[in-house]
Order: sequence, then structure tokens, then C-alpha cells
Amino acid sequence: MTGARLRIEGVHYLAAGRALVDDVSLTVESGEIVGLIGPNGSGKSSLLRTVYRVNRPAAGRVLVDGEDVWRRSARWVAQRVGVVLQDMPADFPLTVRDVVAMGRSAHKSLLDGDDDHDAAVLDAALGLLGLLDLAERPFASLSGGERQRVLVARAFTAQPSLLVMDEPTNHLDVRHQLDLLHLVAELGASALIALHDLNLAAMFCDRLCLLDGGRPVAVGTPREVLTPDRLAAVYGIDTVVHDHPRTGTPLVVVL
Ligand SMILES: Nc1ncnc2c1ncn2[C@@H]1O[C@H](COP(=O)(O)OP(=O)(O)OP(=O)(O)O)[C@@H](O)[C@H]1O
Ligand SMILES: [Mg+2]
Repeated sequence: MTGARLRIEGVHYLAAGRALVDDVSLTVESGEIVGLIGPNGSGKSSLLRTVYRVNRPAAGRVLVDGEDVWRRSARWVAQRVGVVLQDMPADFPLTVRDVVAMGRSAHKSLLDGDDDHDAAVLDAALGLLGLLDLAERPFASLSGGERQRVLVARAFTAQPSLLVMDEPTNHLDVRHQLDLLHLVAELGASALIALHDLNLAAMFCDRLCLLDGGRPVAVGTPREVLTPDRLAAVYGIDTVVHDHPRTGTPLVVVL
């Protein structure tokens, strides 16, 4: 799969009389994984919503492979952008298989049945996320982490060229956090992922964008962005930054 190129150009998003996203410009190159980090309320989810066509920017543009998502249909975007949201509702009477199969709908018209290709894509996604044993269970009966994996599988079945994920490791145990981010890295799609865990972000992201008060205060490699001075200024924490013994990426130790 080839990754889409995402270009966020001077995006502002306003709500309740203030700028939740304040002049953000950011590029995700084809195949690149970019992590969006920043404190609670810094605008990560608000920015991601401008990309997957929920928050219409007051100014600026969001381009996927050069096309303005806000000039394209929701369906056009759904065919290219796979989305995993923070806290999805779970109170609907569908099985795991049904929920994952919803990911194919972007590529089908209302009257299309599921063909062999759809079934193969669906089974592959269930397998990748370790969900084959849970496939017939009601979605509502799953644990938080199991649900999260289902929502990732649903995004994968759309075979997106860009993944937009809002804290996809939410609810996952350590093993599943690593597995998920490895899967994203292997998928070949481009990805913009909001993450709270700075060390996971450093291990898996090619570049990071640190938001504070809706503005990008640093964009660069994890090494460039995760400095003790900046972490003190933005999060108000005292840290030392070591080298990860296996990956060589920065390892933030909170003092
Ligand atoms: N519709 C809205 N009206 C008013 N304020 C909003 C609205 N949506 C979000 N906000 C506020 O905008 C700020 C940014 O919210 P956002 O959800 O983007 O933050 P975040 O970085 O994703 O935070 P978290 O790490 O907690 O998920 C917060 O202060 C939030 O309360
Ligand atoms: Mg958020």
C-alpha cells in the first residue's frame, strides 16, 4: 500500500469564541508516521477532526494527495482516510465481525453484497488484531482494550492510505500497545497519531508535532522535539532524556 501525503496548511479551528487549533501547518509525507503530542486540551483531537472532516477549519486547508478534503465528499475521504477515535460509543447490538465489516462500506454502494475480496480483507484484519476468537461476540460485551482493537481492525479493513488515530493505544495493555504500533508501521499507510506516551511516540514515529494551546511549538524528529527544556515548558515536568537501549530513540525518564 502506498501512503497518502497529508498537508495541513495554516489551519485554524474556532469554537466557543476561541481558537482550539491556532495556525497549524504540518506535513505527513507518504508512508511517514507523525505523532501528535501535547497536554490535555492542547488541541490534538480538534486538529485531527479537521483532517477527517468533522471540524471545518475557519481558515487554512487540509490536503490529502493534493486534494482539499473539505471540497471532497465524505465518501471520498472515507475511502482514503481510516479513522480511530478517542472513546467511541459501544452501545449498539452488533457483533465484532459486523463492526469490522463496516470498514468496507466506504468502498461499496448501498446495494452491494460482500464478495470474496471483502471477506478476505475482513478476515485478514481480524487476524492481524488477534480478534478471530472474538468475531461472533457482541461488541458491547468486550473489554475496553478488545473494543479498541476492533475499531483499529475496522479502520484497517477500509485499506486506507492515511490513518488518523486519536490515542489508539488507549485501554491497551503494554503488549497490545506495541503490537498495534508495529502493525501501523508495517501497514505502509501514512499516519497521524495522537499519543500521550512520549516513549511510545519516540519509538514509533518518524517525526513528532508538539501542540500547546492549539499551536505547534515544536515539529521534528523525536530527538529534536523531546528535550528536557521543552517538556518542562509545555508539561511542567522535570525529565532526563536517555537513549533507548534497543532502538536508540529518546527515552524520557520523568524525575
Ligand atoms: N466544541 C467545543 N467547544 C468549546 N470548547 C471545546 C470544544 N471542543 C473542544 N474544546 C476545548 O478545546 C480544547 C482542546 O480540546 P481537544 O479535545 O482538541 O484537546 P486534546 O489535545 O485532544 O486533549 P486530550 O489529551 O485530553 O484528548 C479543550 O480545552 C477543550 O475543552
Ligand atoms: Mg483528545
